[in-house]
Amino acid sequence: MNGGNSAGGAGPHPAGTAADAGPGAAPVPAGASLAVSDLTAGYGRVTVLHGVSFIAGAGEVLGISGPNGAGKTTLLNAIAGLNPRCSGGVDLNGVHLARHPAYVRVSRGLALVPEGRQIIGSISVRANLELTLMARGRLRPDAEHRARMDQVLELFPGLKNRLRVPGSVLSGGEQQMLAIARALMTGPRVLLLDEPSQGLAPSVVSAVVDALQHLKRSVTIVLVEQNPHVLQMLADRTLTLSLGRIAGLATG
Ligand SMILES: Nc1ncnc2c1ncn2[C@@H]1O[C@H](COP(=O)(O)OP(=O)(O)OP(=O)(O)O)[C@@H](O)[C@H]1O
Ligand SMILES: [Mg+2]
Repeated sequence: MNGGNSAGGAGPHPAGTAADAGPGAAPVPAGASLAVSDLTAGYGRVTVLHGVSFIAGAGEVLGISGPNGAGKTTLLNAIAGLNPRCSGGVDLNGVHLARHPAYVRVSRGLALVPEGRQIIGSISVRANLELTLMARGRLRPDAEHRARMDQVLELFPGLKNRLRVPGSVLSGGEQQMLAIARALMTGPRVLLLDEPSQGLAPSVVSAVVDALQHLKRSVTIVLVEQNPHVLQMLADRTLTLSLGRIAGLATG
């Protein structure tokens, strides 16, 4: 640990390519480094995050663990631009994003897979994926959208036969895969994942972990997770958050 409430980068990994990510990996853009500095956020008069700083190197999987209420979701939402009471820096490859609203951050390569998935149950799986067209200012699917669709369906083949069904009929595991697929449709360079294993059966957790293993190195991942087994399999380093402050840093 350095400085008590911050964690330095381990030095950026070389940005990955689809070839690095193993056979069958979906080719996605190379990861970017994410620098979070002195991030403070809360709700109303209550401050939940107290000046959190860390760097996730390009291509790194940085785990974040901590007890319920520690501020993990608040942290990811603040990085994504979804917390209105927030100050501090969020830089992607040195580009300052903190003054930009959430939709601009998405267009610059920052994508959030939110806690509880938050897919839209009343529209089809395909329509959930097409929502991301707005992030690129498009109204209709274009060649880029179709190429990304092919990539995410290669990563999550189970969604192929489910494109026409409403999101609400998907199983929990399928909903999680759709939530990750939806984020990948924006072509992220940093993926923020909030408890992807939450509420899933062990076999489904394995499938999600496999998919994230394929993505590893080709996109930077900040992985909030309470399942130590998942962190052990995926994370290069893991920060522990406690009462809105970084309380520890473990490697591996
Ligand atoms: N919308 C909100 N309005 C007011 N307080 C909130 C809101 N969201 C979260 N909080 C409070 O902020 C604190 C941190 O919550 P947060 O959801 O970030 O924690 P967490 O580490 O993600 O917890 P969990 O492991 O349960 O998901 C908690 O005390 C919570 O009650
Ligand atoms: Mg949470």
